[in-house]
Amino acid sequence: MATGWIFWGVTLIFLCVHNVFARSTSWKQSRGGDHVEVEPLKFKEKFFTQLLDHFSYNSWGNGTYSQRYLITDEYWRKGYGPIFFYTGNEGDVWDFAQNSGFMVELAAKQEALLIFAEHRYYGESLPFGKESFNIANVGLLTVEQALADYAVMITQLKEELGAQKCPVIVFGGSYGGMLSVYMRIHYPNIVAGALAASAPILSTAGLGDSGQFFRDVTADFENYKPACKDAVKAAFQELQALAQQKDYSRIQSAFLLCKTPSSDKDIHQLNGFLRNAFTLMAMLDYPYETSFMSKMPAFPVKVACEMMLNGSDVLSALRNTVGIVYNSTGMQTCYDLYSLYVECADPTGCGLGFNSYAWDYQACTEIEMCFESNNVTDMFPPMPFTQSMREVYCAKRWAVLPRPGWLKIQYWADDLSTASNIIFSNGDLDPWANGGVRKSLSDSLIAINIADGAHHLDLRASNKSDPVSVTKARQQEAVIIAQWVKAAREKMLGRF
Ligand SMILES: *[C@@H]1O[C@H](CO)[C@@H](O)[C@H](O)[C@H]1NC(C)=O
Ligand SMILES: *[C@@H]1O[C@H](CO)[C@@H](O)[C@H](O)[C@H]1NC(C)=O
Ligand SMILES: *[C@@H]1O[C@H](CO)[C@@H](O)[C@H](O)[C@H]1NC(C)=O
Ligand SMILES: *[C@@H]1O[C@H](CO)[C@@H](O)[C@H](O)[C@H]1NC(C)=O
Ligand SMILES: *[C@@H]1O[C@H](CO)[C@@H](O)[C@H](O)[C@H]1NC(C)=O
Repeated sequence: MATGWIFWGVTLIFLCVHNVFARSTSWKQSRGGDHVEVEPLKFKEKFFTQLLDHFSYNSWGNGTYSQRYLITDEYWRKGYGPIFFYTGNEGDVWDFAQNSGFMVELAAKQEALLIFAEHRYYGESLPFGKESFNIANVGLLTVEQALADYAVMITQLKEELGAQKCPVIVFGGSYGGMLSVYMRIHYPNIVAGALAASAPILSTAGLGDSGQFFRDVTADFENYKPACKDAVKAAFQELQALAQQKDYSRIQSAFLLCKTPSSDKDIHQLNGFLRNAFTLMAMLDYPYETSFMSKMPAFPVKVACEMMLNGSDVLSALRNTVGIVYNSTGMQTCYDLYSLYVECADPTGCGLGFNSYAWDYQACTEIEMCFESNNVTDMFPPMPFTQSMREVYCAKRWAVLPRPGWLKIQYWADDLSTASNIIFSNGDLDPWANGGVRKSLSDSLIAINIADGAHHLDLRASNKSDPVSVTKARQQEAVIIAQWVKAAREKMLGRF
């Protein structure tokens, strides 16, 4: 695998330099990053004329929008090889294509057509352009519509490309992995199997306990060194003491804030901003430098802990530690709390810009994320986020009331026993992992746990710094997927 990788690296980087740089602007705007990862990509960017509303023949009539997708037939055995389809999630589709090199490697081996589809209301797939997030227009942003988009797109592209007999395997990471699961269970007529990497299908359906996420973030730092957790806790405690004394100027200087805080609201914002840096470092604790969601050094948890334990002043140690996330360029002279972090209906963060509006709306409707920190099972200050707080926020921000339980009803949640052909992969370092399926449920509902993996590490391209556990997981996934493709093809050709 490594040899193949080096070969593509040399030939493909040259061919896709144009695309890589053409999209660097939107990358900067959407994520605030300052570095574009050059991976071997040969995708063509295309747009699909998609129905606005799959479920009502009246409200939006036959209105359409342009849905973006990326495609390459570079490796495809035309008309025969499978289709590997990435069910895009909450972001620019190029970000997922750039960070899912495993699919490219697998397509090369299994002669597959590769398609990455962009989720409606994200990236450039905005049904109403800049007006997409007006209350009157945002209602077409649902999981159901997104899945129907993918089902229609797959069906039509198969026809156009002469791929009617090509089995389709869907792939996705995180929410994209949830969508892959849902595609398989709702459209088994279209999709032969799903690789759902780091898909928290249980926790986002309101199952499990609300302390799990931040407990698992904490565990990453504690497992590196127990003293690291203690130092973070001590720093938050000192911050709390200063806040109680209303010593706002000391807080401003300790954290190099652009504006002096002046209220409990500002302190709450500061706590959220700080906690979010730890969330990102735990999720993105990859063994090499990356630029996905945020620019990260190799092993950010280790880097953070070493910084946290360096120096006698815990507050400045905390400031330097969150700088790994917010000051990766070294160019921030001070922290503008309300522009670097925006609180929303997802306590693990919605990011910034248009994509964050869409995710916030989804967190206010179908996707349930009432996760909280409590300073008992985790190292963060108590920051509750209950269903009633969610309701108040969502009513005010989007004029909607969440419907707890709907995702569980609609997408089976913990009752998947009648489903088939789904791999649930999870990395033990990933705070999302325990919100997903960790044990195989049948011969074809297979859990793969990756001991040294962070958030969907298995979807990333193979790398010389990869732990053995992820290399093994990818091999296992490749074998299972090849079996699904073979079985689906035989079924289609009518020979059993
Ligand atoms: C829908 O199709 C009908 C019949 O072709 C056409 O008259 C109408 O303008 C279309 N409506 C929209 C919203 O595109
Ligand atoms: C620890 O602090 C010292 C002195 O401030 C600095 O030289 C060193 O680079 C720091 N190490 C880490 C890992 O941050
Ligand atoms: C960002 O990093 C630079 C370089 O290390 C440092 O001088 C600056 O104080 C940092 N900014 C903040 C807000 O911590
Ligand atoms: C966390 O709990 C400890 C007691 O276990 C308390 O002393 C500390 O002030 C709390 N920290 C915060 C930030 O609430
Ligand atoms: C591994 O990751 C590093 C950091 O992103 C990158 O520089 C390198 O090219 C990657 N590839 C291999 C084959 O190690």
